[in-house]
Amino acid sequence: MLNLLKHPLLTHKLAILRRKETTTKDFRETLDEIAGLMAYEITRDLPLKNIIVETPLSECKTQELAREVVLIPVLRAGLGMVDGISNLIPTARVGHIGMYRDHETLAPNTYYSKFPDNLPEAVVMVLDPMLATGGSASATIKVLKDHGARTIKLVCVVGAPEGVELIQKDHPDVQIYLAALDEKLNDIGYIVPGLGDAGDRLFGTK
Ligand code: PRP
Ligand code: URA
Repeated sequence: MLNLLKHPLLTHKLAILRRKETTTKDFRETLDEIAGLMAYEITRDLPLKNIIVETPLSECKTQELAREVVLIPVLRAGLGMVDGISNLIPTARVGHIGMYRDHETLAPNTYYSKFPDNLPEAVVMVLDPMLATGGSASATIKVLKDHGARTIKLVCVVGAPEGVELIQKDHPDVQIYLAALDEKLNDIGYIVPGLGDAGDRLFGTK
């Protein structure tokens, strides 16, 4: 299911990411802020369990999170979303997957992966600012499922209709979260209007 998150602060900050003059420093800070704002919505349905704590005054029946959260940034650009979310969920463990798109075929290639051992029990959040053809996200989700992940959320900032469609076809069980659904892909697989190459803008590599 697609969850398109709407909030004036998200819209404002996304305009900063999109603006071509935005510096690497501002891009990095703003992407983290956007991830932090998205965290509120993407965690809305996390299950709780009943607990009892002692306040300074008495016993209190309350609740705490029932499942661990694992964040999986897709290298490179997904790294820019980790701090914003883990500031709110400091107990989240973080796994990594390295994926790059072949420039000619746009096919995703995995070059690295390292996951915590609690994927089967955890709520697993795949982080990547861009959902273009959807190839990288779909391949990442497949790898995570092969490692036992059962509850997966795909958290991106900007998506193209083609990417959303592919995830819905390949992984109908996965919740997709976007701050914007853009118009289309261009003929070299970039999201239009989009924000350009997220990894290059985040790390200043171009
Ligand atoms: C970008 C982006 C996604 C992918 C999206 O990474 O961060 O991972 O492209 O495209 P897709 O939906 O068509 O698969 P890229 O492959 O450019 O790697 P990089 O972050 O290392 O630059
Ligand atoms: N990857 C990016 O970084 N940007 C796009 O527009 C598409 C894929």
